Amino acid sequence: MESLLIKGGVPLCGDVTISGAKNAVLPIMAATLLTDEPCVIRRVPNLSDVKFMGQILTWLGASVKFEGDSVRVHARKIKGAGDYDLVRKMRGSICIMGPLLGRLRKAVVSLPGGCVIGARPINLHLKGMAALGAKIKIQSGYVEATAKKLSGAALFLGGRAGSTVLGTANVLMAATLAEGVTIIESAACEPEVVDLASFLNAMGAKITGAGSPTITITGVKELHGAEHTVIPDRIEAATYAIAAAATNGEITLRNARADHMHAVLDKLKDTGVKIDRAGSAITVRRNGKLQPVDITTLPYAGFPTDAQAQMMALMALTPGISIITERIFESRFMHVSELARLGADIEIEGPSAIIKGGKPLSGAPVMASDLRASAALVIAGLAARGTTQVNRVYHLDRGYENMDAKLRKLGARVERVEET
Ligand code: EPZ
Repeated sequence: MESLLIKGGVPLCGDVTISGAKNAVLPIMAATLLTDEPCVIRRVPNLSDVKFMGQILTWLGASVKFEGDSVRVHARKIKGAGDYDLVRKMRGSICIMGPLLGRLRKAVVSLPGGCVIGARPINLHLKGMAALGAKIKIQSGYVEATAKKLSGAALFLGGRAGSTVLGTANVLMAATLAEGVTIIESAACEPEVVDLASFLNAMGAKITGAGSPTITITGVKELHGAEHTVIPDRIEAATYAIAAAATNGEITLRNARADHMHAVLDKLKDTGVKIDRAGSAITVRRNGKLQPVDITTLPYAGFPTDAQAQMMALMALTPGISIITERIFESRFMHVSELARLGADIEIEGPSAIIKGGKPLSGAPVMASDLRASAALVIAGLAARGTTQVNRVYHLDRGYENMDAKLRKLGARVERVEET
């Protein structure tokens, strides 16, 4: 297994090009199952999660060809059951359920197992499919959704923590081939949902209102092939922006969408960081002493839970008290104990972490537990004195394309080594 060896204390400076969004490309790849015609998706990031989705589509019978940063998928003939071994490895693969039900009127997928960041049930996904007329059966670790006919319906998809991103995506995809009109209330408004809807409309779907809490889908008989370029990854962009602030550096994010990052950029401004925007370039520059800020994670356009851990690393470096409250995933504080190994002073009180920041961090071996926690440990390691070894970087490779190479281009002293 590999780990990252980071010699900290170097201000990161220069340009970094933001890759396509992982959380847009996964449901968009699944959506290619809705047609028997070929589809081409561009700006596809080279990530292990993306490769997994490719394996799942291949397993279902589609031909999948990755060429440079594009993927060509042709789901001419497919079967309706997703392989347990593949699906359990990546929760995001639950989003094959909507397309399979939409196209075949039948979907059998393994129930996603537990996750370190929270229970992550799929009750809302199933509620949405049942509202379209599907019969849902859960048996021996699999969920089976079948329907003689799918009919449009008005449904409310809000849950304990508000809207659901992949739940909205699944219902949206199934409804494109249902008879009649579906109205999803309390739909997720994330840019990744909007990107999926624009791909589906390019395939001939009739979707309006994506990006708002009310999405209307007028079902069509069939969908055709289409080409699409994926939006940039706002969470990857946020991660590099926070790394610039943490290392007292100056980074220009190329090919980034500032209009998808208001909550993060606004909080960074509150810490005193300088942000300049020019077209699709955002320059983030540390501007003297950092100020502590309080954060509560919320569904989009609120502060993204996927940037919470990275901001906590920054607040650990910031003199003063800051409070970070996690409202989306009940146990998304796995990074706290590892940041403490670097010398951070953080206490957890229920859904909040109280950070007493400002103590200099010093390098140590730490363990990544999930994708965003590993990004936080990398940021802390870049700012710490001495050497930090981040173990289990396979978590990082799931969501960050060539992170160590991109960091080296910004001046970081980081190398990938075999875990000792
Ligand atoms: C997506 O997960 C992202 N994953 C997550 O990113 C992201 O953290 C999350 O949205 C929230 O923004 C992908 O897009 C592949 P949810 P998703 O359904 O759709 C509860 C990363 O780091 N809920 O919006 O699975 C759920 O437990 C990953 O890139 C139900 O109760 O998240 C959570 O508390 C991690 N019942 C909340 O809703 C349901 O049926 C939001 O989850 C579904 C969800």
